[in-house]
Amino acid sequence: MAALSVEPAQAKIIGRLYAEKKIDRALLPQVAAALQKHVAADKTGEFQKMLAEVYKGGLIVGSDEASLKQLEEMVKAKGDATRGRAVFLDSAKSQCAVCHQLEGVGGRGMGASSPHAGTGASAGGGIGPDLTKIGTALATNKLIESIIEPSKEIKEGFGTWVLTTNDGQVYTGLKIAENDKAVIIRDPSQAEDILIPRGDVKELRPGQKSAMPDNVVSQLSAAELIDLVAFLKDEKAQASLRGMVSRAWVVGPFAGDAMKKEEWEPRADPLKPIKAAAGPADKAGKDLQWNRADVGGNGTIDLKLVAGKGGPGSATGAAYVLVYAASPKDQKVTVRMTGEGGIRAMVNGSPQVAGALSAAGATGTLSLTAGWNTLLVRVEPTDKGAIALGVQVTGGEGVRFALRPE
Ligand code: HEC
Repeated sequence: MAALSVEPAQAKIIGRLYAEKKIDRALLPQVAAALQKHVAADKTGEFQKMLAEVYKGGLIVGSDEASLKQLEEMVKAKGDATRGRAVFLDSAKSQCAVCHQLEGVGGRGMGASSPHAGTGASAGGGIGPDLTKIGTALATNKLIESIIEPSKEIKEGFGTWVLTTNDGQVYTGLKIAENDKAVIIRDPSQAEDILIPRGDVKELRPGQKSAMPDNVVSQLSAAELIDLVAFLKDEKAQASLRGMVSRAWVVGPFAGDAMKKEEWEPRADPLKPIKAAAGPADKAGKDLQWNRADVGGNGTIDLKLVAGKGGPGSATGAAYVLVYAASPKDQKVTVRMTGEGGIRAMVNGSPQVAGALSAAGATGTLSLTAGWNTLLVRVEPTDKGAIALGVQVTGGEGVRFALRPE
């Protein structure tokens, strides 16, 4: 049964048999994998639904004490919180951290990947509830159910609303604010909250679906789902996220003098493109735009895409990473920087840490002032072109990172 490379029709039969408990529960990984192969091509959503059913049948037997215990044990025996942390963080895979904050990391909404798609977009407020301590708040079976069937029980205050305007436009999303003048709707897939004047509102009613997509789970294998649950149950593993930069602005490539860094470095601003230096030496010079990037499962932002091909006449260039740090007071904080390449880190325009990155990480000290600070890091690729950056405050009080000062 290892190579379950089956036709859609067969996969459906296997899925149904499994959901009807006619196939050994131990074969969950194989059955799930067989269905997963067809999820992407299936427009009806049938495979996705069946996959959720299969996960449910394979993981949740019941909510009586004995089955709960069995489930806990399975998560304990097979789940790996460290691997689960990687699944949680990996925005390409699970998207969890895109919508949910946990230990102050993540959860600032989705939106478009460019600041130019809108301003003031997803700063502040998230899409989903904060998941810090969710492992104590929800029993393991409820936790799994919340992930595989988000719409079954919608957390109060996080349900979607459907707003129809007088001219027939329909908006779906969270209701962020409402008064007698206007309603603000946040659609997770849009960069900006939408403000609709009261006079234009024809109907506003609660939707039936959660704003959490049904299909997050279709990206996950059975083992990854178990690892993820093990992570959400493990407070120590979650605490290891504290102080981490989970998303930042990135821009590149920079080669030679193609961009005059002294002109913009002290005033780095994600809303402004960086002007290519003028002049004949820079024929191919193009203005560069900031883009948003998320960390991967290993906690670093992959900068290969922005460092890509360097400017005129060079293979690879440097990249810049920009993020804002909120500090409750003036303080020196310890940061751990991981990744590949050489760095120069600046806070509010002044260089503070320089050196080489490694997977193990190097520590340094940053001086933060009370309020919002600009952290700008220039990263040079290694000889082999490897380039990635992870930043985490490991010593310091109450430091939090965001894409914009709030
Ligand atoms: C597009 C945004 C989005 C993504 C992506 C997302 N969620 Fe959610 N999640 C929500 C929203 C909104 C709710 C609240 C509504 C509800 O209960 O369904 C929620 C609810 C939950 C809950 C229940 C919380 C509670 O307090 O009852 C859990 C647990 C959860 N999500 C885990 C996850 C995990 C794990 C992932 C990644 C595999 C994930 N979510 C991905 C938006 C999202």
